[in-house]
Amino acid sequence: MASSAKLPSRLPPTRIDAEGLGSFVVRLVEDRDVQFLVEIHLRQFPDGFYAKLGTAYKKRYFHEYFRSPGAVGLVAEQCDGSGVVGYLMGTVDNDAHERFMYGSAAPALTAAGARALVARPALWRDFLRRRALWYAKRFVSGAARTRRPSREPRRGELLYLCTTQGNRRRGIGAALLRAYVEGAQRARAAGLHLVSERENTAAHEFYAHRGWRVVSESVTRDGRPLVSMALSLGGTST
Ligand SMILES: CC(C)(COP(=O)(O)OP(=O)(O)OC[C@H]1O[C@@H](n2cnc3c(N)ncnc32)[C@H](O)[C@@H]1OP(=O)(O)O)[C@@H](O)C(=O)NCCC(=O)NCCS
Repeated sequence: MASSAKLPSRLPPTRIDAEGLGSFVVRLVEDRDVQFLVEIHLRQFPDGFYAKLGTAYKKRYFHEYFRSPGAVGLVAEQCDGSGVVGYLMGTVDNDAHERFMYGSAAPALTAAGARALVARPALWRDFLRRRALWYAKRFVSGAARTRRPSREPRRGELLYLCTTQGNRRRGIGAALLRAYVEGAQRARAAGLHLVSERENTAAHEFYAHRGWRVVSESVTRDGRPLVSMALSLGGTST
């Protein structure tokens, strides 16, 4: 998988001792992790249109995301062999990531999305009424944007961070976040941002304690309120 191949020197595996859990290591995602990550992910984030497209679509999305040259996937894995206890996925270079997702990854993602929709007629109405046109416009403007060289400072987006139930408040989330921020600094990103559900105040506190600041609020196409947070890294690369 590309993220494993491209970043090992930037993100060497880090061994950490967690209270009550023994040691765990933070390392780059590998192909063999994807099935389990999708399972944890859909358990933790079952709502929303993409989750309803099902496991096969999510697996394809994760595979493509981790192949992106602008993205990184990290897992926390227990050293005693009992498995993965958390994961993080995010970009360290949004422009490179968008170029990949709107370019090389687009055919596979579109095909996976179409297959998922064909198998789920209950989603057609929602898709046709609220999303089809929006996706088409977004794709056209995104593809056009990625063809123009960007003059903006490099930025990243933290997409998902999740630790498994029963393994929280042991330092795993903080270790994953630290490794990601270090990776973004090494990629010379000027800043990071994330979007999460407004009701997830525990997560906002977790981020706020690590220097992230709320920058705006918005509402999803389904009417769910969101909060955007940002972390400044002071990178200078464009
Ligand atoms: C948010 C989330 C990722 C945090 O992960 P976590 O592994 O619990 O995080 P940590 O253990 O590193 O830190 C959580 C808190 O526990 C505390 N903690 C860490 N180790 C601890 C220990 N041994 N004993 C008690 N508390 C501890 C940390 O100090 C931290 O508190 P702080 O924010 O006040 O500093 C996790 O709760 C989660 O997966 N939530 C569901 C998914 C989600 O909401 N994701 C974020 C939105 S994308």
